[in-house]
Amino acid sequence: MKNLRIVFSQSKGTINPNIYGHFSEHIGGVFYDGLWVGEDSKVENVRGFRKALVDSFRKINPPVLRWPGGCFAESYDWRDGVGPRDQRPERVNWWFNYDGRTESNQVGTHEFVDFCRQVGAEPYFAANMTSVTPLHIRNWIEYCNMDEGRTTLARERGENGSPEPFGVKYWGIGNENWGGGGSMTPEMCAREYMKFSTVCASAVKEKPKFVICGANGHDIEWTRRLLAECEQDIHGRRALRNIWGMSVHYYCGGAGDPLTFTESEWYQMLRQADYMRRIVDDHRAAMDEFDPDRRIGLIVDEWGCWHPDGSGPSKGYNLFEQQSTMRDAMVAAMTLNLFNNRCDVVAMANVAQLCNNLHCLFLAGGEHFIETPTYHVFDLFKGHQGAKQLEVVNEGGYFEEEGKVRLERLTASASEAADGSVTITIGNLSCTEAEEICLSGVGGELNGKAEFALLAADDVHAHNTFEQPENVKPVRWEGALSDGDTVTVPAGGILAITLRK
Ligand code: AHR
Repeated sequence: MKNLRIVFSQSKGTINPNIYGHFSEHIGGVFYDGLWVGEDSKVENVRGFRKALVDSFRKINPPVLRWPGGCFAESYDWRDGVGPRDQRPERVNWWFNYDGRTESNQVGTHEFVDFCRQVGAEPYFAANMTSVTPLHIRNWIEYCNMDEGRTTLARERGENGSPEPFGVKYWGIGNENWGGGGSMTPEMCAREYMKFSTVCASAVKEKPKFVICGANGHDIEWTRRLLAECEQDIHGRRALRNIWGMSVHYYCGGAGDPLTFTESEWYQMLRQADYMRRIVDDHRAAMDEFDPDRRIGLIVDEWGCWHPDGSGPSKGYNLFEQQSTMRDAMVAAMTLNLFNNRCDVVAMANVAQLCNNLHCLFLAGGEHFIETPTYHVFDLFKGHQGAKQLEVVNEGGYFEEEGKVRLERLTASASEAADGSVTITIGNLSCTEAEEICLSGVGGELNGKAEFALLAADDVHAHNTFEQPENVKPVRWEGALSDGDTVTVPAGGILAITLRK
């Protein structure tokens, strides 16, 4: 038996709901025939967006949604996506050389903001820093956020159907500028960022929250050089002051086939997921050298599993579309537990991507629509959003294997909401053995009515398909929990407990 002790007297603070953020790029099947079916479609829709997806997504309280890329952002011209839809241009997009598909611009700024409002999420725009001018982005900010009727761009927004400002708060300046976003050095990226953020900061009265492009995974050297350049005093201006957040992207991958992975590849993937801990901790330590007051937030604005192509329902037609098994669900559970437990460091995170792509929550096509096991993890964990994190003493022990980094057997986090209810989320990382887990409180007791939700399957390769949409879904029951009670979590299973005071 293993022990998890929930420490009521120790907290790192509030779990920012934005840790539960999402990402939707114009790539493959994310939008077209995924989120967007068009107003004239036979598929039930709300102003063009797939209704089943809107209804399902809204249920997990998505706090924020990043758009339109990704790499796509670095060749996107926002002007292509406003005005009458039937007059919008068709363009080659950033991914054309991968799949030969073009961008119809049927989803642009107005449609995307409408989708965010339908599901209750804040839009987080990723602005092009490579192939347009700072003025072009300044104009986008003005178009979105200027008071009704005040300027020509605000009036144009009104003529296009939205007199009220959109109030887009979060603006990423550049995406992966070390790679697809211009192959820049950190110093070049910092200089470009300085230009863009300076020009864009005064576009409207309320200063946008700007996110600078951070590292690829554990590239701490990028972070140090980027922030060192931004720290320079140039005529009394330090770009560091214009940075609200710094992004980092990290994907787990290369651990076998998404559907037929071996036992050893299960653990290989989970070790990769666990590496996020080092990425977060080492990044914050590097950021502290330049930002000791922690004014700049760490934004993990792309994370997830990246498997070889072709396992999704479109059989490779949709670029990067992949199936999601209990292994992907466990990666999500480990990552969200880690972010909860580092809520003093991680200000926002966006799983990549929402639909028909990497580590997605939904798979869709034509009249078909399903939720993946990863969707259910976000559902099980939603009680943590905005709650006070509680430290967990995890006495689950480790998987030790010669020559490999040790891996905790259990992943867990806990939080207390304003109404006193406590959410505990636990994952059993063993793919063969169930675990008996004793739960107890320190500085408080775990007593009360409890709601349990268990996501588990007899086989960790289990996943949902268009033919079997509910193969993997949570089993829920109500009961009571007393301090010192034992719960059983099956091999590869994820359990959420909500204790009502
Ligand atoms: O999520 C797919 C791609 O992965 C994104 O466009 C890019 O930012 C990252 O490399």
